[in-house]
Amino acid sequence: MKIFLDTANIDEIRSGVKMGVISGVTTNPSLVAKEGASSYQELVQNICNITHGDVSVEVIEEKQEAMLNQARQVAGWAPNVVVKIPVTAAGLEATSILSSEGIRVNMTLCFSVNQAILAALAGATYVSPFVGRLDDIGDDGMALIADIAGIFDKYKYHARVLAASIRHPQHVLQAARAGAHLVTLPYKVLVQMTKHPLTDSGIERFLSDWRSSGSVFS
Ligand code: G3P
Repeated sequence: MKIFLDTANIDEIRSGVKMGVISGVTTNPSLVAKEGASSYQELVQNICNITHGDVSVEVIEEKQEAMLNQARQVAGWAPNVVVKIPVTAAGLEATSILSSEGIRVNMTLCFSVNQAILAALAGATYVSPFVGRLDDIGDDGMALIADIAGIFDKYKYHARVLAASIRHPQHVLQAARAGAHLVTLPYKVLVQMTKHPLTDSGIERFLSDWRSSGSVFS
């Protein structure tokens, strides 16, 4: 399972990429708005210069024609841009046209197996089921990931399951067990994943034993 960072924050992306474990970035209009950038294009191009992995960039239009125009522009901003489009009837139409033009699409705001099947059939490269938002309404987000991953595998769909709306490290573990191909994480969750109290106390003990030994390094 690969890891993407779910953020539009340049410092977070720099620091995640430096760790060497990040294969790409996903953004959405809310994450972009949080950064207060005056130009969407400039922000996306900065992100695409930091990571050579795929960077998902969402369209901010709802009608098929407008979506399509915007998607083509966004795809021209950098070679590693993947256009993010919601799973709606208009979004599916746009995705099938874009995929026939060789433009890669991440179909987002997916909340059901049926939406995921349609996204795969429309030619999406990634399908993003939102785990946390389903959990928030008392549904089981991870059961959806397992269902979609099993069905994509059974029918050999090319679309990759990208578990999104991840809230904590347990979600990452569960997504891996459920067969997600990728997971996209807030930076905070990436940092939480690095931590274990036994790692910290282990380092402290090794170093204090070493210091008290009086040995030299070489
Ligand atoms: O990028 C889409 C998704 O990960 C958003 O997550 O936490 O706003 O539900 P969240």
